[in-house]
Amino acid sequence: MGIKNTALGSSGLKVSNLGLGCMGMSAFYGETNESESLAALELALDLGINFLDTAEIYGPFKNEILLSKAVKGKRDKYVIATKTGVEVDDDGTYKGVNGKPEYIKKAIERSLKHLETDYVDLYYIHRIDPNTPIEDTIGAMAELVKAGKIRYIGLSEASPETIRKAHAVHPVSALQTEYSLFERSVEENGILDTVNELGIGFVAYSPLGRGFLSGEIKSIDDLAADDWRRQNPRFQGDNFKKNLEVVEEVKRISEKKGITPSQLALAWVLQKGYSAIPGTKRRKYLEENAAAADILLSQEELAEIDKVTPPGVASGERYPPASMSALNR
Ligand SMILES: NC(=O)c1ccc[n+]([C@@H]2O[C@H](COP(=O)([O-])OP(=O)(O)OC[C@H]3O[C@@H](n4cnc5c(N)ncnc54)[C@H](OP(=O)(O)O)[C@@H]3O)[C@@H](O)[C@H]2O)c1
Repeated sequence: MGIKNTALGSSGLKVSNLGLGCMGMSAFYGETNESESLAALELALDLGINFLDTAEIYGPFKNEILLSKAVKGKRDKYVIATKTGVEVDDDGTYKGVNGKPEYIKKAIERSLKHLETDYVDLYYIHRIDPNTPIEDTIGAMAELVKAGKIRYIGLSEASPETIRKAHAVHPVSALQTEYSLFERSVEENGILDTVNELGIGFVAYSPLGRGFLSGEIKSIDDLAADDWRRQNPRFQGDNFKKNLEVVEEVKRISEKKGITPSQLALAWVLQKGYSAIPGTKRRKYLEENAAAADILLSQEELAEIDKVTPPGVASGERYPPASMSALNR
């Protein structure tokens, strides 16, 4: 129980079971606050959380640059995971999914520069490029491992078939995919079976349903005008209303236990034995989330949770149509 350093899969990589999703500190979720985010990143270490999740496209680049400030002078205490494979120009213009070896090799140099480090602990392919054989992409990543620029290789949003092909070229240490009480498709589409069979660590992103499961978002107006979630079908119209009803059920169970719905949602992922990277830009939520690692859910509570949040419970797709079609399924 509690936050501990654990093996992420069987490749040798060790991370705190609860990580910290840093995306919202720089992009997508409304207002940012650099000093509060840096304070949260410092507090994370005190709480035993060393596993930081970022990507070149967050900002673009702003989030990696923010992390460089946080880890300065104590780089070896953190495990930094960043991602490539969704191309952005040096000026930050989005170009689309690109898993070509040339791009991967260019991107790592830029990420190392922005992070002000000479190695990345875990380098993920953010989205799978349908026009580049995954073997070629992973071949380039394997060269980066050999060169000491990255320690471990990860994939994000990859299908079982892609995971197997990639793993045959070079061991894949981690798979990152959305997983929460709201989004349980990995339980049914072969992804969890595949990673468990191959000894690949599973990292649950958006474990709070992008904040919905916290119970703090009660109306679309709680989100800033430029908040990306306004484009997410789950936060729109009738879907929002129906999803809020599910959150009310989760809240009811958490209140009975004397914990918050966020803690319930995180304890549920951790108890399954997976890593979770809840995102927050503030110390208050970080402390609350860290305490989830001390919570044990009983068989009765797990059964009640299954009853109110079965697979497929959330209304609406988890991305707008164009982003849904960029998922490798
Ligand atoms: N691989 C991918 O394609 C992919 C996609 C999405 C995300 N990710 C990664 O996964 C990380 C986590 O996902 P996420 O940030 O999308 O979603 P999330 O962790 O499900 O939710 C984050 C949201 O919940 C709020 N929150 C956190 N703790 C809370 C608490 N205790 N009480 C109330 N609200 C709370 C945050 O608020 P504040 O921001 O106000 O603190 C933020 O709005 C990201 O940071 C990113 O690194 C990866």
